[in-house]
Amino acid sequence: MCGIVAYIGNKPAQSLLLEGLKRLEYRGYDSAGMAILSDRLHITRAVGRVAMLEEAVARNPLAGTVGMAHTRWATHGDVSERNAHPHRDDKHGIALIHNGTIENYAPLKTYLQEKGHRFASDTDTEVLAMLVSELYDGDLETAVQSALREIRGAYAIAVICEKEANTLVVARKGSPLIVGIGDKEFVVASDGSAIVAHTTQVFELDDYQVCKLTRDDFRTSTLDNVPVTPKIRQLEMELEQIELGSFETFMMKEIFEQPEALRTTMRGRIDEHAGQVVLGGVGSYARDLVRARQIVLTGQGTAYHAAMIGQYLIEDLAKIPAKVEYASEFRYRNPIIVEGTVLIAVSQSGETADTLAALREAKERGALTMGAVNVVGSSIARETDAGVYLRVGPEIGVASTKAFTGQVMVLSLISLFLARRRFMSVDACEVMLEELSRVPDMIEKALAENDHIKRVTEKYCRNENWLFLGRGYNYPVALEGALKLKEISYIHAEGMPAAEIKHGPIALINDGMPAVFIANKGPQYDKVMLNIEQVKARGGRVIAVATEGDQNIKRHADDVFYIPDISDALSPLLTVVPLQLLACHAAKLRGHDVDKPRNLAKSVTVE
Ligand code: M6R
Repeated sequence: MCGIVAYIGNKPAQSLLLEGLKRLEYRGYDSAGMAILSDRLHITRAVGRVAMLEEAVARNPLAGTVGMAHTRWATHGDVSERNAHPHRDDKHGIALIHNGTIENYAPLKTYLQEKGHRFASDTDTEVLAMLVSELYDGDLETAVQSALREIRGAYAIAVICEKEANTLVVARKGSPLIVGIGDKEFVVASDGSAIVAHTTQVFELDDYQVCKLTRDDFRTSTLDNVPVTPKIRQLEMELEQIELGSFETFMMKEIFEQPEALRTTMRGRIDEHAGQVVLGGVGSYARDLVRARQIVLTGQGTAYHAAMIGQYLIEDLAKIPAKVEYASEFRYRNPIIVEGTVLIAVSQSGETADTLAALREAKERGALTMGAVNVVGSSIARETDAGVYLRVGPEIGVASTKAFTGQVMVLSLISLFLARRRFMSVDACEVMLEELSRVPDMIEKALAENDHIKRVTEKYCRNENWLFLGRGYNYPVALEGALKLKEISYIHAEGMPAAEIKHGPIALINDGMPAVFIANKGPQYDKVMLNIEQVKARGGRVIAVATEGDQNIKRHADDVFYIPDISDALSPLLTVVPLQLLACHAAKLRGHDVDKPRNLAKSVTVE
């Protein structure tokens, strides 16, 4: 979704803001803009990539050491220069950028029009800019606080004013915003990637908080002007983690980072001597967790697929009733939260609006809440009672890859943590933990098939319809494989349980239609073979993900991607890898920008 970067200090703001915007490009956007304060307010906006804005400001450079910039993902109003941020008023020279949506913008707009304000865009953001202007009485911080008391919705905003050249005001509710503290300078951004090059000392604003920044100082307060002291922390991010290095795309880089990322996920969490899992983030809630009567897992997109695997693992290993639900459904459906319910919110960003709302709903209804989250200090991480960070490092590619395996790894650890404290013997747990610890090496072997996977993808990538089929633990992987392919290559792909095709989808199969089967050696292997034959009999082309050494599969499938031998319960950590590579190659071969798929945003902070 929209990206915000703002600066106050002594360096020229223009280049610093452009560099920040480039770091935020991965979030997804359709236009960009910048405001710089010098003797007066200068605004430049452009439709399309940050490069277009860069060209525009190069033609007309903006001098000044206070400013802000924005990438817009359209919600209210079409993609056009006049709807791009910053929005401004003419009376006081106030400019504002915004990430989020303002629900009551319509009545506020009517009110402001009656007061004589003229609007130049169709956005909800311009309404907020005008409201700040309407309430401005010589103090920007007060005007922002007053305006925010009047609005409903979600926001992260930055505001500057021609009349207060040494002030930047920022605020948040529901959308992320981080303040980086430098030496007589501050960099504020939607996420740490736009800050890390300048400082690693940061703090997050909480909901309904406003921060006034000058070059020398900052002051954080509530909307009612009660001062609050933010918690300053170290940003856990290295510059090289957010740079491409020798890779062509972030998605490919992140697929290849998975072995190392998962080693980090596991580090210090497996006690081999005691044959058990150690989870520091669970803290004093361990007892409640072990005694849970029901576990609900929730998330969206890829995180939802990981949550599905979590459901299977928890029931299978820990023997606790578990269910999984889209957060967007859970939050509105009046769900039953019995006593002893634990909700696990699964999310890479920790900012997904629906997942955050589902978590709040469950909390309200008395559930103990846990997070399986990647971004440290994110909203979900902060609002859950307990949590286990994924620790896979920043994920820049819009198509989630290492976060998925990180989520499955964390859910495997949680399941074994519970299982061992309930019914699983030390020996059985030791066997699984030993296997888990070998997963990174096994992923390395799966990645070694990359060239072969690329050649196979070349054969099929012009087909417009694909099926992804799996059973048991690998049914969610089929869903994930289909999602990966469709979101970056724009190929229509459907994932489903392999047995389901007979109930309708088999009608789709025509000559040459690719069907990807996850056919690892597991309890349902023979059943999967039957389903493969059903597809072959109707002219479908079968690509199988199979276990190393399985020669039989070659008699059934047209092409095979091998993965190392692993138990069925842990197999999703491997079977997904060839599907990630296939999707990445298909998108590239079809000429698409793998890291910036059309219409998509990395972190979905609106409903
Ligand atoms: O940040 P989250 O994990 O909460 O995001 C959830 C989904 O929006 C996300 O997984 C999305 O489906 C990815 N683009 C899939 O690759």
